[in-house]
Amino acid sequence: MRGLDERRYGFSSVCGRRAAAVLAPTLWAFSLGCGDAGPSAAPSVTYYQDVAPVLAAKCGGCHVSGGIGPFALDRFESAAPMAGAIADAVAAGRMPPWGAEESEGCTPRVPWKDDARVSEADKQLLAAWADQGAPEGDPTTATELPASPVLDLEDPTMELFPSESYTPTVGGDVFMCYSFDPGLTATKWLTGLQVVPGDLAVVHHVLVSIDSTGATADETGWYACSGGGLGGGDQLIGAWGPGGGPLLTPEGTGTPLVAGVRIVMQVHYHPANDNFGPDSTGFTLRLQDSAPARTALVTLIGNASSAAEGLLPGEGDGSAPVFKIPADTAGHVESMEFVVPEGGPYSLFQVGTHMHYVGVDMLAEVQHAAPQGDEPETECLVQTPHWDFNWQRTYVYDAEIDALPQIRGGDTIRLRCTYDNVLTNPGVLQALEDAGRSETSVVRLGETTLDEMCLLSAGLVLPQ
Ligand code: HEC
Repeated sequence: MRGLDERRYGFSSVCGRRAAAVLAPTLWAFSLGCGDAGPSAAPSVTYYQDVAPVLAAKCGGCHVSGGIGPFALDRFESAAPMAGAIADAVAAGRMPPWGAEESEGCTPRVPWKDDARVSEADKQLLAAWADQGAPEGDPTTATELPASPVLDLEDPTMELFPSESYTPTVGGDVFMCYSFDPGLTATKWLTGLQVVPGDLAVVHHVLVSIDSTGATADETGWYACSGGGLGGGDQLIGAWGPGGGPLLTPEGTGTPLVAGVRIVMQVHYHPANDNFGPDSTGFTLRLQDSAPARTALVTLIGNASSAAEGLLPGEGDGSAPVFKIPADTAGHVESMEFVVPEGGPYSLFQVGTHMHYVGVDMLAEVQHAAPQGDEPETECLVQTPHWDFNWQRTYVYDAEIDALPQIRGGDTIRLRCTYDNVLTNPGVLQALEDAGRSETSVVRLGETTLDEMCLLSAGLVLPQ
C-alpha cells in the first residue's frame, strides 16, 4: 500500500473530487457538475472509444471476472461506477501494482518488459473520463482492444502438485518441503515455471529447486525443512512471493534438468490467525526436449538466513557490522556487497527485490571492475522505493541478451535495504497484528516473516 502522495492530492483538487466520494454513485452529480473539466468544456472521453483499451492493456488479467482483482473492469456496467476510484488509484501509482521506479539514485539502462505503469497521458484520460461522469460512448464503433497482460504460464507441459495437501497449525512460521520425481529419462530444458499458491492467507514464499543427487527420494510426503537451505535441493529454479508471476527464460535459453533429478518445493507458511484451510500449493513447468543455444539460471544474492554475509559497516554497529534494525527507528539502512567470482559475462535478464514487512526501499547496483562500451562504472539494476510485501514481482529487462546488463568476474554487486521499524509503516502494523503485538521490537536477520531479509533474485544467461 502506498500512502497518499502529493500527486494524488493535486489530482483530487482538480475538481474537488474525493476518492471515497466518487465511489458512491449518488455523488456522481457532484463530479458531473464540476467546473471546466465538465463535459461541455472538454472533448468527450468515452468507455468504448478511449477507456476500455487502457483498462484492457493495464488492468486486464486481474480485474476480470474470476481474476484476482476485487472487481471486473472489462465491462462498461462494472467499470463506470468505479471511474473515480480508477482515476485515483492510477494517479497515486497504487494500481497497477508495480514497484520498480526510476529515481535520481537509480536509472536502469534497459527498459522493463511488460512495464505495467500507466502513461501520464492515459492517467489524464482516465481522470477526464471520471470527471465527465464516465460516458459510455458507442459500442458499435468500439476501439479494438489490445492484449491483456499474461499472468499465467502459457503452454505448461507438466504440473507437479503434492498428492496430499498440508495444513499448517497456528503459532508461528513453518517451512515444509515436498520432493517430486518428474520422471525424466533424458535431459529436458526448463523454459518456464509458475508457482500456483494454494491458500494466499498463509503461503509467504515458495522456492523450487533441483535435487541433482536424488537424495530426497527417501522423503515420503511433506517434511520439515527450515534452516536456510532448499530442503535438499541444490540448485534454485524458481522463487515466488505474494504477487509474483511466472518465470520465463529468454528466447533461446533454458535450464537443464538431467535424467533422474528430483524437484524439491519449499513452502514458507505464516499462519497468522485461524482463518485458513488445507493448502495445495504446487507448480507448473514448461519443458522442451531440444537443447537451447544458452543456459539460463536463477540465483539469490544477499542476506536471507541468520548468518549475515557481505555486510558493510552501518549505523549502530559496534566493532563488526551487524544486521540489526532497532525498535522505533525509521530509515535504518543495511548494505552489503558481493564480489562476483571469476567468469562471465553473465547477462542479467531479470531481477526481483525481497524483504519482509519492515522494509520500505531496496536498491541493487553493480560496480563494474572494468566498464565496457557505454557501461557506467556503477550501474543501477533496480530500485523498489515503495516496497510492498504483498506485491513481489520479478522485473524483466526488455533487450536482446547481449544488450542486457552484464556482470563479470571481479565486478561488485551492492545491495541497499532501508527499513522503517515504526508504527506508521503499514507493513509493521500488519506484522504486529499477525503476531498479536502492539509495540515495535528489534528486528534481526532471519527466515521467519517477523525477521528481515535483504535479498535480490537474479536471472542470468551464462556465456555461450
Ligand atoms: C496484477 C493484478 C492487478 C492489476 C494488473 C491491476 N490490479 Fe487493481 N487490484 C488488484 C488487487 C488484487 C486489488 C485488491 C488488493 C489491493 O488493493 O491491493 C486491487 C485493487 C484495486 C482498486 C481498489 C484499491 C485502491 O488501491 O484504490 C482499484 C481502484 C484498482 N485496483 C484499479 C485498478 C486499475 C484501474 C488497474 C489498471 C490500470 C488495476 N487495478 C490493475 C489487482 C490488480
